[in-house]
Amino acid sequence: MADTQVLQNVLRDDQRLPRVPEPGVMVIFGASGDLTSRKLVPALYDLAAQRRLPLEFAVVGVSRTEMSHDEFRARLRKGLEEQRSGEVSDDVWESFAGGIFYMPGDSKKAETYDELKDFLKRLDGERGTQGNRAFYLSSSPSLFPAIVERLGEAGMNEGEEGGWSRLVVEKPFGRDLGSARELNSEIRRYFEEAQIYRIDHYLGKETVQNILALRFANGIFEPLWNQHYVDHVQITVAEDIGVGTRGAFYEEAGALRDIVQNHVMQVLCLTAMEPPVAFDAESVREEKVKVLKAVRAIPEDDVEGYAVRGQYERGWVWGEEVEGYREEGDVDPESTTETFVALKVFVDNWRWAGVPFYIRAGKRLPKKATEVAIQFHSSPHTPFAHDDTQGLEPNVLVVRVQPEEGLSLKIGAKVPGSGFEVSSVNMDLLYGTAFLEEAPDAYQRLLLDLFLGDPTLFIRADEAEGAWRILDPVMHHWSESRDVPFYAAGTWGPKEADALLERDGRVWRRP
Ligand code: BG6
Repeated sequence: MADTQVLQNVLRDDQRLPRVPEPGVMVIFGASGDLTSRKLVPALYDLAAQRRLPLEFAVVGVSRTEMSHDEFRARLRKGLEEQRSGEVSDDVWESFAGGIFYMPGDSKKAETYDELKDFLKRLDGERGTQGNRAFYLSSSPSLFPAIVERLGEAGMNEGEEGGWSRLVVEKPFGRDLGSARELNSEIRRYFEEAQIYRIDHYLGKETVQNILALRFANGIFEPLWNQHYVDHVQITVAEDIGVGTRGAFYEEAGALRDIVQNHVMQVLCLTAMEPPVAFDAESVREEKVKVLKAVRAIPEDDVEGYAVRGQYERGWVWGEEVEGYREEGDVDPESTTETFVALKVFVDNWRWAGVPFYIRAGKRLPKKATEVAIQFHSSPHTPFAHDDTQGLEPNVLVVRVQPEEGLSLKIGAKVPGSGFEVSSVNMDLLYGTAFLEEAPDAYQRLLLDLFLGDPTLFIRADEAEGAWRILDPVMHHWSESRDVPFYAAGTWGPKEADALLERDGRVWRRP
């Protein structure tokens, strides 16, 4: 082997070594909330268990609830145990929890930040966190601007003594285009774009990233990935759960803001984007923004031709009778909030001209299923007898994001026997059996990237705004009418959603 080849192989192997981030602190605002105990701390605990966090790492929770460090730790441990059915390693937890702290404080008041600043400096000395800080906004979104301003006024928008300062912003990022723009400009008064990590946990999912691997690490799909071969695309984010204890939050959000503006739009971008020149933050995000810019505006005077909303009524899911949305806790009994959305969008560029992207997302549907289905044109001509092709459907490539993560390609095949009957069958690949490793949780990946300083899987300001631009006319139209179609829990949404596709001579897939 030539020397250069050997060297290249060594370099490649080196790159595969897990990178461990620099020392640092993660400060969580709104730390008494659900996200901290359900997602953030379990993800950090897993990273600690895999030794992917430096020893000089700390977490500081801030919220108004009075609690000691130990009470906070006990609460987080309880959350972790519930999530892991009791399987928590005492050794890992003890060493990880030694770096967890809590500071009660009102995030609107300047003195909270003076205290926080002193506390973080003390940690730099005691735990060697080297002045590096990531501030995680997980509080109520209405507090985001105040927190950012106070951080800036306290000088915490810069790391201490040569360290870095990063800001993580949880969704929802604004309520519409106007408020998202405002939030972006408020944040940018104190933080540079490179310091801002707008999080969307779908981008941390292995199978969402796999859309890129499928498209750009294979030679056979990309030539077909355009209007010449694709009839239409269906993106589904179906959940069987209802709103549970999150009624108050959901009343403000609804399916469009909760799922479509962020998760679905990101999946749409990855499905439709052009190959990025490199897999780095600017190249990937540049291509995603181009998709959002190319999405045709939904006409204000014909929103119904492109968008359907729905709300679940009492019904049956997995054999159990469940309440309707209006009967859920903290929900207005006359609420018009949508728990289901179906949309038709077009990406007006050379690749996708004329190809509809049908999108649906909803709660209390029959099952949990997130997938992207690329439906190809039918074969131009079949030489077989009409009666023999009754069971033949067009080719569909399904990227299953969850559950049963994998790929499925529907192809036509001969039915065994005499004659020449052909029918559709599925070729399936399950990622779980192909790689015998369990995929890391989305937050694990994203928090690691945050500490490594890699924003590739986070959302840039213009992406957030681009997604709102598409949805603004729909939200505006819906806000003017109280007429929400209902669907029984455990069904695939209101009949209006079926009609949206029927008008185009198409039907929704059953995932
Ligand atoms: C969250 C939404 O962002 O995503 C929830 O707020 C939703 O309403 C959840 O249930 C779905 O995430 P996942 O990872 O279970 O698909």
